[in-house]
Amino acid sequence: MTRIVYLNGAWLPEADAKVSIFDRGFLFADAIYEVTGVVDGKLLEYAGHAARLQRSTTELGITCPLTPDELLAVHREIVSRNALKEGLIYLQISRGAADRDFAFPTNPTPTLTLFTQAKPVLDNSKVATGIAVALLPDQRWARRDIKTVQLLYPSMAKMEAMRQGADDAWLVEDGFVTEASSATAHIITANGRLVTRGLSNAILHGITRASVLDIAEKADIPYEERAFTPDEAKNAAEAFITSATNFVLPVTTIDGQPVGTGKPGPLTLRLRELYIQKKLADAI
Ligand code: PDD
Repeated sequence: MTRIVYLNGAWLPEADAKVSIFDRGFLFADAIYEVTGVVDGKLLEYAGHAARLQRSTTELGITCPLTPDELLAVHREIVSRNALKEGLIYLQISRGAADRDFAFPTNPTPTLTLFTQAKPVLDNSKVATGIAVALLPDQRWARRDIKTVQLLYPSMAKMEAMRQGADDAWLVEDGFVTEASSATAHIITANGRLVTRGLSNAILHGITRASVLDIAEKADIPYEERAFTPDEAKNAAEAFITSATNFVLPVTTIDGQPVGTGKPGPLTLRLRELYIQKKLADAI
């Protein structure tokens, strides 16, 4: 099926949506993005993604061409135009097209694109087995709190993890885990405490992370926001990742070493259940 995508105010069949070779997203990775999950044709965590989008654009001095209401309307319309039941919406805003120059152009017209990807997100075969992660050095830039499209190193890390027989990478900097290639990393200690790295420029401020901490608080699951080492992770009772399309997904092996029993942990699975329940109820 040909998707209908959004490009700067126009709705186009995907093959007809063209962006300039001078676009700074293409030349400089001068662009930010968001990924919003969709279940039953409804948007998950929309307010969180819209707020982070606003923050990323502000940090880079890019102006979103749509008002918040218009942006929500475009999200709803792309779901309906593509009859999307389950999957995700990808949104990207670049600074726009300009002759190649390291200095930002004055008054550029941003390029706003959205497209959908249909895929099952609720029914994930990896929930039953958990995923394997490989520890790799974090060689990304130092402003990971901004959701830019500079994704070459995360792609390379994912490829290296897969070459090692794992599903994904957990990145390590200065002796501590930062995050996964495209998800937040969490562990659960032997005494049942959820540990997740605190917010800083070192990690993306995950929308799912924030909701999981909120849910943990309400469910009386104690948590600590602090960095943890690869050794602490390997010796943890449970481990998991969170992201817009993985929700809460167990990690059962780190660098070939089983985490806890080597099976998805009970607290991880409980958090997944609670997260899905709450987010489906709140979907718009
Ligand atoms: N990735 N950390 C990184 C580096 C990420 O790329 C992501 C999301 C997350 C989780 O954030 P959230 O819970 O808001 O989805 C953490 C998206 C899904 C992606 O790149 O496809």
